[in-house]
Amino acid sequence: MKQNRLYGDLAWLWPLLSPPEDYAGEAKYWRETLREKLGPGRHHILELGVGGGHNLSHLTSDFKFTAVDRSREMLAHSIKLNPDVEHKRADMRKVRLDRKFNAVIIHDAISYMLTENDLLKTFRTAAAHLDKGGIFVTSPDYLTETFSDPSIHHNTRTHDETELTYVEYTYDPDPKDSKIETIMTYYIREKDDLRIEQDLHISGLFPMETWRRLFERAGFIFEAVDYPVHEDKRQGYLFVGVLGG
Ligand SMILES: C[S@@+](CC[C@H](N)C(=O)[O-])C[C@H]1O[C@@H](n2cnc3c(N)ncnc32)[C@H](O)[C@@H]1O
Repeated sequence: MKQNRLYGDLAWLWPLLSPPEDYAGEAKYWRETLREKLGPGRHHILELGVGGGHNLSHLTSDFKFTAVDRSREMLAHSIKLNPDVEHKRADMRKVRLDRKFNAVIIHDAISYMLTENDLLKTFRTAAAHLDKGGIFVTSPDYLTETFSDPSIHHNTRTHDETELTYVEYTYDPDPKDSKIETIMTYYIREKDDLRIEQDLHISGLFPMETWRRLFERAGFIFEAVDYPVHEDKRQGYLFVGVLGG
């Protein structure tokens, strides 16, 4: 099965599948955490893996942003929604903008880091863009302690003449590795036509202790803040790092 079509040929579905207004609740936790750590002011924040910029769109009135993603199609969505934000196309594991920010955030895109090495590289990217005392915030979709196999989510959305029903089926084909798979099935109805498409997403699954250990290895003091946003009521966390000296 093809992988990550939602960020490629099916990226046009993103605003229908996961519209910006759905992010108001979770963005509140990002805004409050960033404000608490950074204090008053229009701080400059780097977002890695910005996707369509839907979460970002709720934060731009408070903070100045620069945003990075590796998908041209997703960047196009974010540029349209957040025209005042500077956007760059790059991989979060490798990008070096040779500039410092007050904070670096990675919303759900961190879930695409599949190994400890991927995570560590990305945390080092965050550290490379911060001075001592700078803040790093991220939140994986799934954590070993709270993942239940299978995890299923579905919804139907309509916009103009397009109706989209999607089913997400997330399971762990090999509990011995750090990866889980999500099979997305999209039922796309336009006028009298029904099209069915499928797409595979591979995500990382790590226990809290791994996040803590790798944050610390990249130079951050680690804290887990409650993030009660999941529809299935499982415990969520914002992982917050303060860069040490
Ligand atoms: C679920 S989407 C993010 C949606 C976003 N939170 C929003 O509010 O619209 C995940 C994004 O991660 C990006 N991504 C995955 N791996 C990446 C990497 N190594 N470097 C940069 N971006 C990456 C994908 O291109 C995709 O746009």
